[in-house]
Amino acid sequence: MRGSETPGWGWGRRAPSPGLVLSLLLSAVPLGLLGEETRQVFMEVVPDWMDPPQNLLHIRAVGTNSTLHYVWSSLGPPSVLLVATNTPNSSLRVNWSLLLSPEPEGGLMVLPKDSIRFSSAVVFTRLFEFDVTNISEFTKPPGKSYPPYSLAKFSWNNISDSLDVTTLSATFQGCPTNDSTGAFANGSLTFRVQAFSRSGRPAQPPRLLHTADTCQLEVALVGAKPRGNHSLFGLEVATVSQSPDCPSMQERHSIDDEYTPTIFQLDQLLWDSLLSGFVQWRPVAFSQKQRGRDSALSCQTSPVYHPEEYLLPQSPIVRAFFGSQSNTCAFNLTFGAATGPGYWDQYYLSWSMILGMGTPPVDTLSPLVLGIMAVALGAPTLMLLAGGLFLLLGPKRYSEYQPIN
Ligand SMILES: *[C@@H]1O[C@H](CO)[C@@H](O)[C@H](O)[C@H]1NC(C)=O
Ligand SMILES: *[C@@H]1O[C@H](CO)[C@@H](O)[C@H](O)[C@H]1NC(C)=O
Ligand SMILES: *[C@@H]1O[C@H](CO)[C@@H](O)[C@H](O)[C@H]1NC(C)=O
Ligand SMILES: *[C@@H]1O[C@H](CO)[C@@H](O)[C@H](O)[C@H]1NC(C)=O
Ligand SMILES: *[C@@H]1O[C@H](CO)[C@@H](O)[C@H](O)[C@H]1NC(C)=O
Ligand SMILES: *[C@@H]1O[C@H](CO)[C@@H](O)[C@H](O)[C@H]1NC(C)=O
Ligand SMILES: *[C@@H]1O[C@H](CO)[C@@H](O)[C@H](O)[C@H]1NC(C)=O
Repeated sequence: MRGSETPGWGWGRRAPSPGLVLSLLLSAVPLGLLGEETRQVFMEVVPDWMDPPQNLLHIRAVGTNSTLHYVWSSLGPPSVLLVATNTPNSSLRVNWSLLLSPEPEGGLMVLPKDSIRFSSAVVFTRLFEFDVTNISEFTKPPGKSYPPYSLAKFSWNNISDSLDVTTLSATFQGCPTNDSTGAFANGSLTFRVQAFSRSGRPAQPPRLLHTADTCQLEVALVGAKPRGNHSLFGLEVATVSQSPDCPSMQERHSIDDEYTPTIFQLDQLLWDSLLSGFVQWRPVAFSQKQRGRDSALSCQTSPVYHPEEYLLPQSPIVRAFFGSQSNTCAFNLTFGAATGPGYWDQYYLSWSMILGMGTPPVDTLSPLVLGIMAVALGAPTLMLLAGGLFLLLGPKRYSEYQPIN
């Protein structure tokens, strides 16, 4: 189990070591020199004439020598395909009749095929709800699980209505197709997707750093009636790629600054090599629209492993792109703890992640921290230098002014 068990806002709190500060300082320098890379980003809904409507959102981020494709869909469980090509001219080809057939292989292609340098997919398979009212030492955390919601059995809005090309964002909003308990009568689960043409950082926590090579996903559960008085929610995430190995989970630490007050940890999932694909998030979720200390929940991550594949809902776009030649890995995210703020406060939960291809963004130090460090490191250094200069030059100069007898 990753992330500290401490509820509330204080997890991961510890003083950064001098080594960490130094390595951060060093890593801050080269990135600053690289400058920003920009991409021309196109976001479009791939049209279909199906009833019910099928959502297929294509993000094409074109650079000088490369194109990144992100294909988001709510056909089956919500999922995204990540495809990097080494040409500015690659394109997405969709054959709807094939894609919607029981054998969708080949229904979704990125052409030319030999330009593909990396491909993978992320699938959001199930929403879990746990009862934490009565956690004893015998019940395994996070508590007793209610029957999970399979996200493949949700119905979703028409994505065209939420597409905003100025902010490069779109929102999938869904409810269980068969909501027999009425839990989602006033609620929904949303996946807000945003793309970027340059690097930056949103104003709202968790303020994840993005680049032109990345997309941001904000998952929010709003207004759904929990099945118990104290319910924790969890999200199961699957990754699909042609590599036999699962992506590796890593923790990075940064120091406290005004970008990310008191959250020092960044969790990241990396596909085989550094220059492939990645997912990043901070181990924090929020229980209110107003995101801050009072509404922060810890986010626990389980280890990544190869599950029994038939247990996970299958994504048609993943099958269409990869065929049967793919490997699935999965892990769970759990939001909150038995005490502290929770979904029960306002029936609200939100969590964000960054998905991307290429080199994962590295948090540099904020100007404020750099300034403080420059002063803190600078003043003694200047004094040492001044002292050294005095020792070197002082006596000599003194001798020059000695009166000649
Ligand atoms: C989805 O919305 C778009 C724009 O509002 C509309 O043109 C399209 O027909 C809708 N699709 C369906 C299947 O309702
Ligand atoms: C991108 O293209 C430029 C000019 O065509 C070339 O100089 C550069 O090496 C290319 N970069 C990569 C990473 O291929
Ligand atoms: C789509 O796939 C079907 C089935 O393989 C094929 O008959 C049809 O020609 C394809 N359509 C296009 C436009 O390629
Ligand atoms: C909590 O668990 C204990 C022991 O299993 C049981 O006696 C008690 O009734 C439970 N309380 C609630 C509210 O479920
Ligand atoms: C949904 O909201 C309406 C109006 O706010 C309320 O009357 C109704 O009880 C709510 N239903 C559920 C299941 O919470
Ligand atoms: C939930 O809370 C209500 C009101 O506080 C209480 O009556 C009920 O017994 C609680 N249910 C459970 C399962 O603890
Ligand atoms: C996620 O948690 C649920 C409930 O504890 C469990 O059934 C499922 O196997 C877990 N999935 C993964 C990939 O760990």
